[in-house]
Amino acid sequence: MSTRKYLILNGPNLGHIGTRQPEIYGSQGLDSLPEILKPMLGEAVGEVELVFHHSNFEGNLIDRLEMARREGLDGVAFNAGALTHTSLALADCLAWIGLPCVEVHLSNIFARTDEPLRQKSLMGKSCIGVVAGFGILGYALAVLALERHAAKLQDNK
Ligand code: DQA
Repeated sequence: MSTRKYLILNGPNLGHIGTRQPEIYGSQGLDSLPEILKPMLGEAVGEVELVFHHSNFEGNLIDRLEMARREGLDGVAFNAGALTHTSLALADCLAWIGLPCVEVHLSNIFARTDEPLRQKSLMGKSCIGVVAGFGILGYALAVLALERHAAKLQDNK
């Protein structure tokens, strides 16, 4: 298989991961992702490229997803923050762009029973899966899931 390129996309209030409410979202920053991922990818490490993008704006996230489609990226690990629970526009975008997407959350949104809205995702139905509750490790697990998905697509050719 040739090189795969994945977008690590973060939405509102996710520009300060590791510093923002570490008791909920963890104290590790996104800069630690490559080191976490390296041993998980094993020999494939040289075949995987990550591109990072963060925006606090819904429209900018849609623009980036559309660009990922044009660029022919292989998939997206997407933490849309609070927009996960509210944005029909992001859900609409994921529904048509045809890129495999893994929904990522640092916290276990399903365990946040004090705030029931956080347990709902509008975008989940257009994703190949959801990872929640493992902090930064969640992005690494999402990339592994995207790798498995890419390998399956390759096998079916
Ligand atoms: C989050 C969960 C969302 O409910 C919240 O609005 C965030 C972060 C998470 O990563 O756990 O901003 O997506």
